[in-house]
Amino acid sequence: KGTQAQYLVEKYELLHISTGDLLRSELKAATPLGLEAKKYIDKGELVPDEVVIGMISSQLDQNIGKVKGFIFDGFPRTKAQAEALDKLLDFKNTAITQVLALDVPEEEVVARIMNRGLTSGRSDDNNQEIIKNRFSVYLNETTAVAEHYKEFDKYSSIPGIGTIEEVFKSLTEAIEALS
Ligand code: C5P
Ligand code: MG
Repeated sequence: KGTQAQYLVEKYELLHISTGDLLRSELKAATPLGLEAKKYIDKGELVPDEVVIGMISSQLDQNIGKVKGFIFDGFPRTKAQAEALDKLLDFKNTAITQVLALDVPEEEVVARIMNRGLTSGRSDDNNQEIIKNRFSVYLNETTAVAEHYKEFDKYSSIPGIGTIEEVFKSLTEAIEALS
């Protein structure tokens, strides 16, 4: 997600808001929010909705009107987060344009994350059990986000296998098809 988001940011001049990155920088700075989040991240569980929604709300307040648009990376993760995001954006007279979901089989996700774990320094990237739990949390909680945006015709599933360039091409094709 993060890799492709970087390329999309460059091409479309968007602001990249990654809730995972925001949580990890709170963790690094050992803020109360970061220490609370660590309990969940270390198990591959989701940080409570109100915490991440609060972070997103403050990012929107700080940046709306100053940038062309946003790319939310790794958010919303639950139906409650999706509904809260829709409300926040509605207050600001805007809305989600499209959800782009990268579709990758579980074995490939596990292999990529284990490989990233060699250099990322992330404790949740080094443990196969934690990675598998992250995948099952995705199936149990985040699938509902896809269903939510499908109802509004705002959901695209993008094949996430292949090279970075191939995946990026599929993403940009889906985006160009919107306008
Ligand atoms: O999005 P990313 O893969 O970087 O998330 C890493 C971890 O951060 C997740 O496994 C989860 O513990 C936490 N997270 C969260 N809620 C989000 C985004 C990330 O709980 N919206
Ligand atoms: Mg990421």
